[in-house]
Amino acid sequence: MNTDAIRQRLREHGQDHVLAWWDHLDDAERRALAGQLETIDLPRLKQLYAERDKTFAVPSAERIQPVPVIRRDADATHARRLGNEALARGEVAVLVVAGGQGTRLGFDLPKGMFPVGPVSNKTLFHFHAEKVLALRRKHGQPIPLLVMTSHATEAPTRQFFEEQRYFGLPKDEVWFFRQGVMPALDLHTGKLLLETKGSLFTSPNGHGGTLTALAETGLLDRLKQLGVRQVFYFQVDNPLVKVADPVFLGHHLAADAEVSSKVVPKRGPTEKVGHFVTVDGRCTIIEYSDLTEAQVHEKDERGEYKLWAGNPAIHLFSVDFLARVTQGQTRLPFHVARKKVPHLDAQGNPVKPDQENALKFEMFVFDALPLADRWTVVEADRAEEFEPLKNATGADSPETVKRAISNLAAQWLEQAGVAVPRTSEGHAAHPVEISPLHALDPEELATKVDKKLKVAGPLHLE
Ligand code: UD1
Repeated sequence: MNTDAIRQRLREHGQDHVLAWWDHLDDAERRALAGQLETIDLPRLKQLYAERDKTFAVPSAERIQPVPVIRRDADATHARRLGNEALARGEVAVLVVAGGQGTRLGFDLPKGMFPVGPVSNKTLFHFHAEKVLALRRKHGQPIPLLVMTSHATEAPTRQFFEEQRYFGLPKDEVWFFRQGVMPALDLHTGKLLLETKGSLFTSPNGHGGTLTALAETGLLDRLKQLGVRQVFYFQVDNPLVKVADPVFLGHHLAADAEVSSKVVPKRGPTEKVGHFVTVDGRCTIIEYSDLTEAQVHEKDERGEYKLWAGNPAIHLFSVDFLARVTQGQTRLPFHVARKKVPHLDAQGNPVKPDQENALKFEMFVFDALPLADRWTVVEADRAEEFEPLKNATGADSPETVKRAISNLAAQWLEQAGVAVPRTSEGHAAHPVEISPLHALDPEELATKVDKKLKVAGPLHLE
C-alpha cells in the first residue's frame, strides 16, 4: 500500500480530507480505506460533479418516435420452436438483478427473500429458481442462474440460497456476482463523503453495473466457455416473469438481435414506468420522469397514446453484444440523483441531513439498448408477465402481487377447463397458486389437471 501515492492523487483532486483520521486507523482499517480509494476514478467524479446540473440529455420531441413492436397476436409457432431449440442446446443463461435495497417496501432483507406465494408463502427467489429448475428438467440442459447482488444484499442472499439448498438447482449452476459501488459527493462542494473515519460513503452503481460486473468477474467468459449465447435478464421484484420465455427467445433469434425487450401497455399515460421509444431509429428507454406531460399524453392518428409501451425490465442480451459493450471505450452514462446522505463532518461528528445534501450516481442497464444494431421489442400481457413488488401498501404491493399470482393461476385453470369461483371484481375468490415445478404454462397445466377439480378454498398445485 503506497500511502504517499494515494495522498498525492487525492490532493491533486482536492479530496485529501478523507485521510483526516488516517493516523488513528488500525492496519485493517487503513487497508480497507486504501482499497476503496484505489478503485475510485477521481477525474471521472470531477467531471460528473461539473456536469451535475446538465439534465439528462432527453432528445427533442421530433427525434422520439414510437417503437415498432411484435404484438401479442403475432404467430408464435416458429418463434416458440426456435426458442425451445436454443434451450435444448444449452445456449441460455438467466440473470436476475437483486442489488436494490427495497427501501420503498420497508423490508430490511434483500427483496428476493420477501414471501409472495398467496398460498405457499414462497419467496420471490423461490419462484424464480423453480422456474429455472423446471426449464432445466424440461430441456435436460444446465441453465446457469446468475444472481447479481450488491454489498448490502450479497451475504444474506448467498446465505438464503444455501439454507434453501438452492431451491433444488445444482449449486454450481447458481452464480452470484456483486455489482460495483459509486461514492457519493457533497452537493455543494463536490467532496467525497465519509461514512466513518475509515470509510467513504458509497452506494450501488445502479443496475447498469450488471454489465461491467459480468465482464470484470470473468462470468461472461465462463458463459462463453459453456456455450451460452443468450442471457435472459429480469428484476427480482417481478414474480410473474416468464423466465427464458421460448417465444421471446425465438423472436430474438429470428431477428439475429443483439438485444430484445418486452413491453407492456401502460396502465395510463402517467404511469411511472420507463417508456420504450426509438430515438434516431435506435431502441431507447426514457424514464417517465424525463418526459413532459405533453409527450406522455400525445396521441396518434388512431387516437391511441403514442408512447404506450411501458418497460417491465425484461431483456435478452446476446453474449457477443455483452462482450462488445463492456470492452474498450464503451461506457454507460451515469444518472445523477440528489439524496440525503448521513456522513461525518470535518470534525468527525455524525451528520443526519434533513435536506438533500449529496449526489449519487447510477448507471441504468437500459442505456445499453441504443448501442444495439439489431433489436426486437415484443409485447407481453401484463396480467401474465408483470406485477412488480415495489411498495408496502397500495399499488405494486404484497397485496396486489399475491392477487396477481392467484388471478393468473385461476386463468390457467380456467383455460384447462376447471371452474374457478370469482369475486364481483373478477378476482379469484380463493388464493390459488401453481408451482412452476407443476406447470410452467397453461398448456402444460392442461395436460395434468383434472377438469372436475373443485376450487372451494385455497389451492396449491405443486
Ligand atoms: C425500474 C425501471 C423502470 C421500469 C420498472 C419496472 C429504472 C431506472 N427504472 O424502475 O423503467 O419500468 O423498473 O419494474 O431502472 N437494482 C440493482 N442494483 C441497483 C439498483 C437497482 O440490482 O443499483 C435492481 C433492484 O434490485 C430491482 C431493479 O434493479 O430488481 C429495479 O430497481 P428499482 O429501483 O425498483 O427500479 P424502479 O425505479 O422501480
